Amino acid sequence: MPNPIPLGVFGFPAGHILSPVLHNKAAEELGLDYHYLAYEVRPDNLEEAVRGAKVMGFRGLTITIPHKVAVAKFMDELSEDARLMGAVNTIVFEENGNLIGHNTDGIGWLQFLRETTGEHPRGKKCLVLGAGGAARAVAVKIAQCGATHLAIRNRTSAKALELAHFVEKSVPSAKVEGGGLDDLYSAADGCEIIVNTTSLGMWGDAERMATTPIPEDFIPNDCICSDAVYIPPDTEFLKAAIRSGAKVVRGTGWLVYQAAAAWKMWTGVDMPTDKVMEVLHETLELRLGTEG
Ligand code: ATR
Repeated sequence: MPNPIPLGVFGFPAGHILSPVLHNKAAEELGLDYHYLAYEVRPDNLEEAVRGAKVMGFRGLTITIPHKVAVAKFMDELSEDARLMGAVNTIVFEENGNLIGHNTDGIGWLQFLRETTGEHPRGKKCLVLGAGGAARAVAVKIAQCGATHLAIRNRTSAKALELAHFVEKSVPSAKVEGGGLDDLYSAADGCEIIVNTTSLGMWGDAERMATTPIPEDFIPNDCICSDAVYIPPDTEFLKAAIRSGAKVVRGTGWLVYQAAAAWKMWTGVDMPTDKVMEVLHETLELRLGTEG
């Protein structure tokens, strides 16, 4: 019997990465012969590892922290999103030998937002909290979607200003402004979508997990609140959002939908996202229960 078609994720470190659980569940549910593994690849070995995957018959790779920006230069082509975001989270190995770099972080977020709320950032006032890699993807996507205004707020204001400038260069029609946390109340005032991309609320550190990236009384009551943090699935931010009457878009869905977009490119088949979401929640419960 031939070996399964290899898929995988390159990250550093790689021990905590959950994407094998998602993609292997999809393969099992669909009865497709793919096998997905996590590989710990040091930054110095990234190019060699990507070339190795190509000659070993990989169909695709997920690229995660800290390689998303660095890997772009090894691609033969970049998708529009990867080019605008300046980062690659998915590689497709084409049959002709070409390596195509994609970025599904923005589209995964947008598709899950639409699925959960039926809403779209077009014509909306939006706020992104944080200025790292996840912020970059979602901010570009919000700008591409035609939000009327996008504010980026971050503890280190220089990074938010830099990201706002980056987004305005990528999407010249967008109105974006960056800053620190001192005027967070006015930045949030009247917002229709707030996205947390900071690590505040994340499990692993009790104080961090108990912290919200924005005070509860700053959250407009008819706003949509989306969190990039997925462990725990119900973060303090999302609990505060629910209490404020806001709609919530969980990080677990964002994680599954960015994986689903990659899966579709590799296999041509839709990921069974409901089954994959179930296995993700089971895995997170185990992790929270045994290590929390
Ligand atoms: P990712 O690539 O996943 O977005 P990252 O680049 O490490 O991750 O970004 C983490 C974000 O969380 C940053 O915006 C960071 O703010 P700084 O740029 O000021 O470091 C934010 N962050 C982390 N810890 C924080 C804290 N205690 N308070 C406020 N923001 C925090």
